[in-house]
Amino acid sequence: MLLLLFIVILSLDSTLCVSCPKQCDCDTENGLNKASCVDQNIVSVAVGVPKQVQVYSLSRNVISELDNFCFKELGYTSIQVLDLSYNQIFWIGLHAFSGLDQLVDLNLSNNRIRYFPSDIFWDTPQLDILDLSSNILETLKNEPLIMHNKLQVLNLNSCRIKSLPDRLFTRLPNLKKLDISENYLVTLSLDVLRPLRKLNRLELRNDYWPCNANFIAIETWIVSRGIAYEKFCKKKLPTMSEKIMSMLHVERKPVDIGEIWNLTANNTTIDLSICNETKPLTPFQKFDRNFSALQAFVIGLEIGLAIGIIATYVWLRRVCGQLRCRRPQSRRERRRVRREGDMRNHLLWNAVVHTNMETPPIYRRQVLPVPSAPFNSQPTRGREGNTNVERSETPPPPYHECRPSG
Ligand SMILES: *[C@@H]1O[C@H](CO)[C@@H](O)[C@H](O)[C@H]1NC(C)=O
Ligand SMILES: *[C@@H]1O[C@H](CO)[C@@H](O)[C@H](O)[C@H]1NC(C)=O
Ligand SMILES: *[C@@H]1O[C@H](CO)[C@@H](O)[C@H](O)[C@H]1NC(C)=O
Ligand SMILES: *[C@@H]1O[C@H](CO)[C@@H](O)[C@H](O)[C@H]1NC(C)=O
Ligand SMILES: *[C@@H]1O[C@H](CO)[C@@H](O)[C@H](O)[C@H]1NC(C)=O
Repeated sequence: MLLLLFIVILSLDSTLCVSCPKQCDCDTENGLNKASCVDQNIVSVAVGVPKQVQVYSLSRNVISELDNFCFKELGYTSIQVLDLSYNQIFWIGLHAFSGLDQLVDLNLSNNRIRYFPSDIFWDTPQLDILDLSSNILETLKNEPLIMHNKLQVLNLNSCRIKSLPDRLFTRLPNLKKLDISENYLVTLSLDVLRPLRKLNRLELRNDYWPCNANFIAIETWIVSRGIAYEKFCKKKLPTMSEKIMSMLHVERKPVDIGEIWNLTANNTTIDLSICNETKPLTPFQKFDRNFSALQAFVIGLEIGLAIGIIATYVWLRRVCGQLRCRRPQSRRERRRVRREGDMRNHLLWNAVVHTNMETPPIYRRQVLPVPSAPFNSQPTRGREGNTNVERSETPPPPYHECRPSG
């Protein structure tokens, strides 16, 4: 009897599993079933969102790994838009996205991805938009980064890329929009861009490009190919003020997606506001994003220390003056005092100027140690991704937790 009741409950559960988990907001967006589980310290994609979800956001959680078949095994096959931005993903199984046949828009920005196999998106044949910005792709091999026939929009903004190997984009025949701005590129071989025959928009901007004849030629070539591109090197070498102006000029025109895509396609595909251009950050927001609290604290401490030293110095001089320090009489004595004063000034100057010699580099997020992913797709993963997590109250899941629990 009890067993029967149990079975009935189980079957009810599996057929009527339509409640929205507590951590999520469920609603519809342009007729699509949307579940938004944002900023909830979630550690795995198995949150209990009903299988029918089509727009699924798990942004700002603490997911660190995407296991093979972790969506498929939970029955998520209708997802069209998947947002995993601002997690701590450093490992993605080769078949992690298996079953997501309808996935159009995948957002993996602001994670800790260093490496992924180039055929990882074969399981998602409909993928149009891929956002990989703010990951750590600093060691790129001379091989295709991604192999995908349909992908149209690829964002590699702020991925610490130092150079673009020639074969990087050879397997993206339909790529139309590419963003590789805010990386550490100082040279660019045109052979990287040549395979992208359909490219019609390119973002390259960073602060490291030398505006030399070579780079001006590259810009000219890009524009001559009919690619929408905003030149930032002038014909002549820019004067300093022009250079500063062009650095300050972060405003970007919003891209009209209608110029790129066929918007008369089926109504129920995806919400186009998602493809809207990321808003350019104001310098303050940029600062905010690039500086961790620790760095801010260290810098604040240094400034405070410097001010303290100067104030003490001034105060000491004043007090000394009031007490009418005896002025040395003999010329030799006076010279000695002056030399001591010089020495003290020198030390003070050193203390003020070189206080930051032991502090970490303040550029970007190099301060945060970043766990490294293995360079093969075998499941020999370290658990080091969990140690340096700002929001790590919840421990990450054991390896098998992605499996359905019943
Ligand atoms: C598209 O869907 C909206 C509702 O989401 C509807 O109002 C509109 O008529 C549809 N357009 C077409 C062309 O089917
Ligand atoms: C846009 O897509 C619709 C339906 O998918 C198709 O009928 C139409 O010819 C396409 N238009 C262009 C300009 O490609
Ligand atoms: C639009 O979608 C519906 C169901 O999602 C499908 O039956 C129909 O064939 C689609 N139309 C086009 C033009 O793709
Ligand atoms: C894109 O954003 C702009 C404002 O930033 C807004 O006016 C426009 O409607 C948005 N486009 C879509 C398709 O949501
Ligand atoms: C990906 O997520 C980030 C952060 O939530 C957002 O700024 C960006 O616009 C998203 N990218 C796409 C293509 O939707």
